[in-house]
Parts: sequence; C-alpha cells; structure tokens
Amino acid sequence: MAEQKATNVHWHEGDITREHRGKILGHKGATLWFTGLSGSGKSTVAVELEGMLNEMGVLSYRLDGDNVRMGINKNLGFSAEDRTENIRRIGEVAKLFVDSGVIALSSFISPYKADRDQVRSLHEEAGMDFIEVYVDCSLEAAESRDPKGLYKKARAGEIKNFTGIDDPYEAPFKPEIHLHSDQQSLEEEVNEILNVLRDRGIITQ
Ligand code: ADX
Repeated sequence: MAEQKATNVHWHEGDITREHRGKILGHKGATLWFTGLSGSGKSTVAVELEGMLNEMGVLSYRLDGDNVRMGINKNLGFSAEDRTENIRRIGEVAKLFVDSGVIALSSFISPYKADRDQVRSLHEEAGMDFIEVYVDCSLEAAESRDPKGLYKKARAGEIKNFTGIDDPYEAPFKPEIHLHSDQQSLEEEVNEILNVLRDRGIITQ
C-alpha cells in the first residue's frame, strides 16, 4: 500500500454521483482486469470486447500495458518494485474510469497476486465491480506466438527479468473469469465475459 505523503488534503465531495452518470450512460461502470503472460492474448480479447461493447452502445476504455508504459508510466521499468507501482497507478486510473461510469478494460501482465488483490480491495472498498479475467495460456503457446519477438530476445539473454522466462508469474487462485486462450476461440472468450457483465447487472443488453 503506497503511503499518503501529502498532508492537509481534504476530499471534496461533489453533487453528482456515479449513479447520476450511470443514468446518462444506461449502464454501470466496472473494471475488467485482464492478467496473464505476455502474448497470452489479453489485449486481443480486450480489443474484441471493446468492439462488441461499442456496437451495443456501452462505453468502455482500454488501458493497456504497453500503451500506458509510453505515457503515465514511462518512468517505470520491470523490476518487482516498478511493476507494483505500475499496477497501483493503473488500479487508481481504472477506479476513476469506473467512477465516471465507464467499463475499464485493463490489460497488464500484473504478475504479482498481492498487487492485483490490492487493486481489487480498492475497488471493493469503493463499492465498485472488479472482475479479474485470467487469460490462461501455456508458456509454450505464448512463446510460439511471440507477436513482438520478445521471448526470442529473452531466451537469447537480451531482455532480463522477462515474465515466464526469468521472472515469476503468479496465477490467480479464484479469478471471476478463467479463459484458456490456447483452447478457446476469441468469440467464446468474449461471450463468456459479456455473460458475466449481464449476470452482474452491469449491462442490460
Ligand atoms: S507488468 O508486469 O508491469 O504488469 P505490463 O503489462 O505493464 O507488465 O507490460 C508488459 C509488456 O511490456 C509486455 O507485453 C512486453 O511487450 C513488454 N515488456 C518489455 N520488457 C518486459 C519484461 N521484462 N517482462 C515482461 N514484459 C516486458
């Protein structure tokens, strides 16, 4: 848990709530937290889901590891400490999206269980839906896809601390959604997620 550094700061409550914003949009906000190895398909599923939600008139927004690391988190690398800070910041950003009524689609390796659980707690304390989506894929399958050629570099020793090679990945014990991207079709994966959003009353279509 990051320490509160600033003192003499006070929360300023507004008049318009999450519920007011939800009425304008016609659905609830929520965070779908995609976790899994590099190349497991997190971003692919998120992009497909975003397209489906868009067609349904549901507002979602993707937060993606590589993209965020070129902006708000450009000062972070891949040490355990930096990965924890990466996830902490994105957890807070996702919460802002949920508060605004949007469905945040967060795709980060997020290899440490404690970091993901921290983001979950932050959401639950605020009464927000946090849905962990484990994009399960064998290392062999992710490595054979190697869309960015990074596994090859990691095996050659050109990238240090690469998740799955010489850095750990802690799989979730009880994710709300457990996809098997090396066995399921993209359509099946997206439908599974949409059904959970319906069951939870986040979307109504
Ligand atoms: S996380 O571990 O902090 O959650 P994040 O999802 O933001 O990682 O970024 C992972 C992406 O950064 C990978 O998909 C890959 O493109 C790139 N990358 C570069 N170096 C590494 C590394 N050492 N380990 C994992 N991913 C890396």
